[in-house]
Amino acid sequence: MSLFLPLALLLASIASVGAQTFTTCNPLNKTCPPEPALGTHHSWTFNETLNDKIWNVTNGDIQHTDHGSEFTIKEKLDSPTLQSNFYIFFGVVETHVKMAPGAGIVSSVVLQSADLDEIDWEWVGYNTSGVETNYYGKGIPEYTNTGNHHVENADTEFHNYTTHWTQEKLEWWLDGHLIRTLKYDEAKGGQRYPQTPSNVRFGIWPAGDPGNPKGTIEWAGGVVDYEAGPYTMVVQDVRVHDFHSGKQYVYTDNSGSFESIKVVEYVPRSSSVGHC
Ligand SMILES: *[C@@H]1O[C@H](CO)[C@@H](O)[C@H](O)[C@H]1NC(C)=O
Ligand SMILES: *[C@@H]1O[C@H](CO)[C@@H](O)[C@H](O)[C@H]1NC(C)=O
Ligand SMILES: *[C@@H]1O[C@H](CO)[C@@H](O)[C@H](O)[C@H]1NC(C)=O
Ligand SMILES: *[C@@H]1O[C@H](CO)[C@@H](O)[C@H](O)[C@H]1NC(C)=O
Ligand SMILES: *[C@@H]1O[C@H](CO)[C@@H](O)[C@H](O)[C@H]1NC(C)=O
Repeated sequence: MSLFLPLALLLASIASVGAQTFTTCNPLNKTCPPEPALGTHHSWTFNETLNDKIWNVTNGDIQHTDHGSEFTIKEKLDSPTLQSNFYIFFGVVETHVKMAPGAGIVSSVVLQSADLDEIDWEWVGYNTSGVETNYYGKGIPEYTNTGNHHVENADTEFHNYTTHWTQEKLEWWLDGHLIRTLKYDEAKGGQRYPQTPSNVRFGIWPAGDPGNPKGTIEWAGGVVDYEAGPYTMVVQDVRVHDFHSGKQYVYTDNSGSFESIKVVEYVPRSSSVGHC
């Protein structure tokens, strides 16, 4: 099948989904609308205004320059965020990012599902030679399992941060090196293993804002000095590969298990083309 066919159909279907508040529906508690699938692989150069049917600015403003999309904190509590309207059900997410330096500032690339499974790359601004990896199962963190990894000049150079996610294992790759592996069983026998369709999110937030809890401010490396800003994270190239090739994902029960996810396949209906 043509690579672009699924994407074209995705674009055609998003408009109707957009009217619903499907992102706020937790399938562990409710019956939620189907989620649009990427269903293919695709690369984006974040150097110009993004197609808002694919990428949604969910807070603040994002500047697009020749070298990437800029997520900036200028004023107190700014926290621009962007997320994909599509979901992937296992797959690869490759991002080329420059973190924002500065105490109290956190840059992130996140995969997150409607029932709060989550896979993270996080940069804590006081340390420009480190990146943290983490995961949550159904919103429950395993803080003891935060990974701390060395990366030189994370604020001034783009590095390749790639997540490779299957049913069996989750891998974090940095500049072509495998730096961390989490097997399904290692996440509390699978209970905390991220395993439901997720979208891709980028953001920057002032974790060290004086209004935040003390523990958060400490983790973030101190209180944000807004006068010393602005603070900017830059996202350049993004490549996403969905390991399923359907058009939608549906939770068939409230278990949150990957086995409960139904992949709605494309049914080619050439007669309907032109009417959508
Ligand atoms: C985009 O984000 C806004 C703000 O969060 C939300 O109201 C809107 O429904 C989102 N659009 C889509 C297509 O998800
Ligand atoms: C289910 O809904 C209740 C009430 O809104 C909420 O307290 C609870 O946290 C929800 N559970 C999950 C798993 O989302
Ligand atoms: C963005 O990058 C793509 C791929 O390199 C290129 O084709 C396009 O012209 C660039 N757009 C701008 C506005 O620079
Ligand atoms: C930054 O993080 C790396 C990786 O965890 C660590 O080796 C380094 O000591 C940290 N630097 C600072 C200033 O905390
Ligand atoms: C980024 O890293 C991934 C994982 O190692 C690799 O497959 C990919 O080719 C890398 N991208 C570039 C542009 O080198």
